[in-house]
Amino acid sequence: MKIICASTSASEQSTWCDMLAAALPQAQVFPWLDDGPACGADIAVVWHPPAALFERERDLRVAFNLGAGVDSLLKLPNLPDDVVIVRLEDAGMAAQMAEYVAHYVVRASRHFDEYEALQKAGRWQPLAEIDRRQWPIGIMGLGVLGTSVAQAMAGLSYPVAGWSRSGRRLEGVQTFAGLESLPDFLARTRVLVNLLPLTPDTEGILCRATLSQLLPESHLINLGRGAHLVEEDLPGLIDGGHMAGAMLDVFRVEPLPAGHPFWTHPRIKITPHVAAITLRRETVEQIGAKILAFMRGETISGVVARERGY
Ligand code: NAP
Ligand code: GLV
Repeated sequence: MKIICASTSASEQSTWCDMLAAALPQAQVFPWLDDGPACGADIAVVWHPPAALFERERDLRVAFNLGAGVDSLLKLPNLPDDVVIVRLEDAGMAAQMAEYVAHYVVRASRHFDEYEALQKAGRWQPLAEIDRRQWPIGIMGLGVLGTSVAQAMAGLSYPVAGWSRSGRRLEGVQTFAGLESLPDFLARTRVLVNLLPLTPDTEGILCRATLSQLLPESHLINLGRGAHLVEEDLPGLIDGGHMAGAMLDVFRVEPLPAGHPFWTHPRIKITPHVAAITLRRETVEQIGAKILAFMRGETISGVVARERGY
């Protein structure tokens, strides 16, 4: 069994290689080298790999993605049709996503920003009690991560709805399916959470036309990909008063360029693509087990349906 590992830096690669070699002592593990020879790998473990990897390594049968989103991998022009692509499923990301959304919603709905300002002003002033009916949350994408967010927020008694392609059902969550139900889903939502994969169908889905259908004083939490959002539409919706604010973790260009208006907008909070970080131990456990199952010829979960893009 030969594994080639390609990631965003030599030090990242070296850590992943060491951990994979420790988890799979029967495997030979090679780091990707720009000017190295082909190593005849049958398995790749990758995050944003160079296109040249798939040109040089002609024996690959399967590529394991070190993240949930496979959009950048599927964009590679020379990705062979017969290489099976497997995405990461949860591996500790689902809890992180739930924390991220809970942090934002609880902070907004329980006036914690205002209490911080009151403390600075030396004022003791209880604010209005929470009315959870005023905080309907809508989650776009009810997959592994969206389901975790939906269950966490329903567990805190917020009204929660989820929108997906197939309209998968979830206890305690109102579910909507397909484009025809999008207007109804948006019209009942005040906090919109995006956890869709980036595909030709979902690119630019967060735009003036959709965001203006949300309830007044709405909030956007974008955790999917930067290209889901038409960035230039957001400040106007907030400044015009229809939206109250946004928290964005992903951007069309990352790192977010200096001088981008999101850096300084008073109602937009940003984080540097860390909403759910790939956790090394959990990830190596999951990929290691799937590699062994795949090599035994067993069916594994998380195989990407190329024609749907996720
Ligand atoms: P997943 O399990 O594949 O779930 C995707 C969900 O999106 C499914 O419910 C799917 O519907 C729905 N969907 C896909 N295309 C749709 C469309 N055209 N219309 C309506 N619904 C659609 O993916 P996941 O593991 O939850 O991850 C979701 C995304 O999160 C990733 O692709 C990645 O971009 C992002 N992510 C971000 C971070 C971060 O740190 N910011 C970390 C990890 C992942 P069906 O249920 O009907 O198939
Ligand atoms: C991170 O963005 C991921 O897709 O796992």
